[in-house]
Amino acid sequence: MNILITGATGYIGSHTLIALCEAGFTPILLDNFCNSKRVILPRLEAQTKQSLKFYEGDILDVQLLKRIFTEQKIDAVIHFAALKAVGESTQKPLEYYQNNVAGCLNLLTIMKTHHVKRFIFSSSATVYGDPASVPIQEHFPRASTSPYGRGKLIIEEILEDLIKAESDWSITLLRYFNPIGAHESGQFGEDPQGIPNNLTPYITQVAIGNLEKVQVFGNDYPTPDGTGIRDYIHVMDLAEGHIAALKICASKAGLHIYNLGTGRGYSVLEVITAFSNAVNQADSTKSGSTKAIPYEIKPRRAGDIAECWADPTRAQKDLNWSAQRNLNQMAQDAWRWQTQNPKGYE
Ligand code: NAD
Ligand code: UD1
Repeated sequence: MNILITGATGYIGSHTLIALCEAGFTPILLDNFCNSKRVILPRLEAQTKQSLKFYEGDILDVQLLKRIFTEQKIDAVIHFAALKAVGESTQKPLEYYQNNVAGCLNLLTIMKTHHVKRFIFSSSATVYGDPASVPIQEHFPRASTSPYGRGKLIIEEILEDLIKAESDWSITLLRYFNPIGAHESGQFGEDPQGIPNNLTPYITQVAIGNLEKVQVFGNDYPTPDGTGIRDYIHVMDLAEGHIAALKICASKAGLHIYNLGTGRGYSVLEVITAFSNAVNQADSTKSGSTKAIPYEIKPRRAGDIAECWADPTRAQKDLNWSAQRNLNQMAQDAWRWQTQNPKGYE
């Protein structure tokens, strides 16, 4: 099967692309490099041992989309391309809705014209808002707390309308929990621009000496150690979830919705400890000394919730998929990527 991957050179897209090639799918890549770097392409070709079909451009560019669908025989689309900084989305709502919602509509419209009706969408646990209880199941009510999150919710609703109107589509919503970690080769990982917004890239930046201390946003949540709890999932487990979804769902018409998480939550302090251990383990051969990653307690971050983790049972049952890698592996792989690429892909 030929799979169009939008946002293919981004963090999750690139890892999924590697898994897709390993599983024997043929990828066609599209990205405008607004949050990724061109130098990843030769690395991806070396890793996948193939010459990749890549289109540089924007999902807002309808002419380009038409050209891709005319030139290539596409069987399914995995749609990663989006802007994803929650804080920024509150400052630039129009840019976020334009890029994420209008861009997705463009893609769906061209797909329909070309009778390509298999679609996998990168949704997020953010669509559950502040859940009434954990673990979160797919039927829980949805809410949004930012233009970024509202965009995901709007697209989910658009896709629900589409399937009601045209039942021959196969649409899969994958709701990611907190993807972290890196490819075990150390060649691919998360490469945020500027100061990271998310926890684990911030931790590795502190560990490598680019930032002074991890700021822990709140230790007065109703959790065992007072810090926020999340369901961190290894990016390669997430990537493999897409392969399972392609294999199982793409042949079945209808709307399929899955949480992709591990089903286990960790607090901010537990994550910092896991990363300290990974750094010490990697350094032990060099120095023999151990050190903890420094942190300080700060006020809560606006918009954050206390706890969020998945009930991944539906994906286990239907997709025969479950996350295989634990938090230590996530920390070790993230640290390998950080140390081998102290400046990311530059
Ligand atoms: P990323 O920013 O690393 O990758 C997104 C890619 O899309 C980038 O390479 C960017 O250049 C590209 N892109 C953005 N707008 C584009 C456009 N208009 N045209 C063409 N390319 C465009 O982000 P990621 O972490 O890999 O996230 C992928 C998807 O998963 C996004 O839809 C994101 O909202 C969703 N998601 C991510 C997380 C997470 O924690 N990373 C969690 C839940 C959901
Ligand atoms: C964030 C987004 C969410 C998005 C997800 C994946 C917000 C409010 N939510 O989730 O919509 O789907 O990323 O992209 O931005 N933390 C610190 N110090 C830091 C950074 C984070 O203590 O420097 C804490 C947070 O309070 C939270 C946990 O670490 O408890 C994880 O934070 P983060 O990595 O930003 O992810 P989320 O907030 O869960």
